[in-house]
Amino acid sequence: MASGNPKHTTTGAGIPVSSDEHSLSVGPDGPIVLHDHFLMEQMAAFNREMIPDRQPHAKGSGAFGYFEVTHDVSQYTKAKFLKKGTKTDVLIRFSTVAGESGSPDTWRDPRGFAVKFYTEEGNFDLVGNNTPVFFVRDPMKFQHFIHSQKRRADNGLRDHDMQWDFWTLVPESAHQVAWLMGDRGVPATWRHMNGYSSHTYMWVNDEGERFWVKYHFKTDQGIKCMTQEQADQMAGTDADYHRRDLFEAIKRGEYPSWTLHMQIMPFEDAKTYRYNPFDLTKVWPHDDYPLMEVGKLTLNQNPTDFHSQINQAAFEPNNMVPGTGLSPDKMLLARSISYADAHRARLGVNYKHIPVNTPKCPVNSYTQGGAMRIHHATDPVYAPNSKGGPKADGERFPEDAVWATSGEFVRTAYTLRKDDDDWSQPHTLVREVMDDAARDRLVSNVVGHLSNGVTEPVLERAFEYWRNIDQEVGERIEKGVRGN
Ligand code: NDP
Ligand code: HEM
Repeated sequence: MASGNPKHTTTGAGIPVSSDEHSLSVGPDGPIVLHDHFLMEQMAAFNREMIPDRQPHAKGSGAFGYFEVTHDVSQYTKAKFLKKGTKTDVLIRFSTVAGESGSPDTWRDPRGFAVKFYTEEGNFDLVGNNTPVFFVRDPMKFQHFIHSQKRRADNGLRDHDMQWDFWTLVPESAHQVAWLMGDRGVPATWRHMNGYSSHTYMWVNDEGERFWVKYHFKTDQGIKCMTQEQADQMAGTDADYHRRDLFEAIKRGEYPSWTLHMQIMPFEDAKTYRYNPFDLTKVWPHDDYPLMEVGKLTLNQNPTDFHSQINQAAFEPNNMVPGTGLSPDKMLLARSISYADAHRARLGVNYKHIPVNTPKCPVNSYTQGGAMRIHHATDPVYAPNSKGGPKADGERFPEDAVWATSGEFVRTAYTLRKDDDDWSQPHTLVREVMDDAARDRLVSNVVGHLSNGVTEPVLERAFEYWRNIDQEVGERIEKGVRGN
């Protein structure tokens, strides 16, 4: 090709084509011919462009960047990517939970904050939200919860009545609902919100000593939120506002960052702590377990192909590298098998071969075959073998992120402890953390939400729910809705 000429179009097989504009025809006025396989390739590819949305967290976007450790935490974890001075490439995807892939970014909803660290010991995924707690503490309720937030069977509409019906019948939701109805329920942008692991996880140090930990990514841009009015207006004028904001900021060279802090609980404390430390509807108060600075996460690179780098990104809470691990949080344990299953359904069994999901370290796995396999399987294809194949090394990589337990099979989420109840922590949030103005906005947000399609007896239960969180706030909400 002469220099300066644009690239020529080819088929997917790399063969040059003669026209981007015209089908092969029998004379200019005649029919098109069946063997115009280039036209066919174009039509067929188009018909297959869409893949299923994530269920849930369908709407979102993300960017690439790096995480740098600024403080020494080697006494708590042996994870190589958490050694002071280490820099690790990351991918983040932010999202809303309930909306479909075209839904407005500014609907009131928790935001996903999913981070993939491409570490030298494999991919470490922290699939968190912008809130430190969650609506339910038992995974059996998760699918019902999500259904109640999405669309009805009959008219395909979202329905506040079913949202409040579920919430008021599940009092453990109170903390997350109070958080959601407050200012942080609609962040101004993804850059202006925090990210939390929410769950308790484990760290293990070189000596095999174990710690329970929570991850908090605090925004360096400062917290900024939208009022309900601003959010409603933005939903009507720019449904993709958050996606656009992140992309434009990075394009301008304004790289957003978050400082990672940890809460660290000695392993034995969990047995006697006044709250069950694995209950996802509770935080660990900062006074009990102060934040400890660890490092900084910076986003500095936009995707170039949204579909293959963001849509096809597959995060899984089970991706824990040596020195890190899960905890007895029942929600987390369910998530540790749910996500890989979702990826197999949405992207296919070989989803880890999609470049954005491929670790940046050697993979020596005995899995083979399956649709769209990219990496070649090599002999020997079985273990154990005496043919030089990879061998698991329990000496170097012991299964040490573990805990002991025993008991009969029961269907119960946790034994209650001294301070375990569903109302105290949301009460603290509403009465002590929020100031008068924030509380006014909370009341107004709830009144607006409840006044939009919520019917008896759900309405009466909602007032009682809020009185349980805070007597005065509950009374104000009832007055606001009933109009007396
Ligand atoms: P602290 O006073 O130490 O912390 C209060 C926390 O609340 C801060 O992290 C603050 O975040 C955050 N916050 C401020 N305004 C809001 C809001 N409108 N909505 C949600 N969060 C807000 O208190 P405790 O640790 O004792 O926790 C008290 C309550 O604060 C908890 O019951 C919980 O509802 C909430 N909270 C606690 C967190 C924790 O991990 N302990 C984390 C987030 C919320 P910032 O520092 O960014 O301003
Ligand atoms: C997405 C299941 C709880 C954060 C998803 C997806 C599933 C799922 C199936 C779609 C995955 C995909 O197709 O890529 C569950 C189950 C839960 C649970 C079964 C509880 C039992 C939580 C909690 C959090 C969370 C507690 C946060 C702390 C996310 C995020 C995404 C997601 C951020 C989007 C990830 C992305 O950007 O690709 N969840 N989830 N989930 N979930 Fe959960």
